[in-house]
Amino acid sequence: MNKVAIVYWSGTGNTEAMADLIAQGVRTAGGEADLVQAADFDSSKLDGYDAFAFGCPAMGDEELEEMEFLPMYDEVEPHLPGRKVALFGSYDWNDGEWMELWEKRAEEAGVDVVDSVIAKDYPDDDASADCMRLGTLIAK
Ligand SMILES: Cc1cc2nc3c(=O)[nH]c(=O)nc-3n(C[C@H](O)[C@H](O)[C@H](O)COP(=O)(O)O)c2cc1C
Repeated sequence: MNKVAIVYWSGTGNTEAMADLIAQGVRTAGGEADLVQAADFDSSKLDGYDAFAFGCPAMGDEELEEMEFLPMYDEVEPHLPGRKVALFGSYDWNDGEWMELWEKRAEEAGVDVVDSVIAKDYPDDDASADCMRLGTLIAK
């Protein structure tokens, strides 16, 4: 059974709702999902899991949230190559550019991002289905 860490930051609950849906997808596929706040995660926890979904909304100007998520992710990213990683998050007023920048950054660090899901504001039916699918994908 695959154990998946869903590590996220969410200011107003939209990315958190995505995290919950991804966890449902993991469990539907027979995996075990741990929902972890970004501030409670660091690289020492990586070996306890088979796969990871990192979630953060678009903040700043198409950036990752800088007080809790970014410091955690900066520390963890060098240890991610060779592990199964997915990315997700919510946005509002642009077109998802922050996720493109995040994926590019991960790729440059040698991280193989298996998939990513973005949702405009609270996940609608399509985005919810995408989150469930992402959970199923990383649980396998
Ligand atoms: C300080 C701040 C900065 C934001 N910057 C962006 C941005 O650059 N691009 C964008 O599309 N949305 C931006 N947003 C909108 C959020 O990404 C959006 O409201 C998202 O749904 C919040 O997710 P959450 O509920 O998980 O916190 C910003 C919101 C805040 C509060």
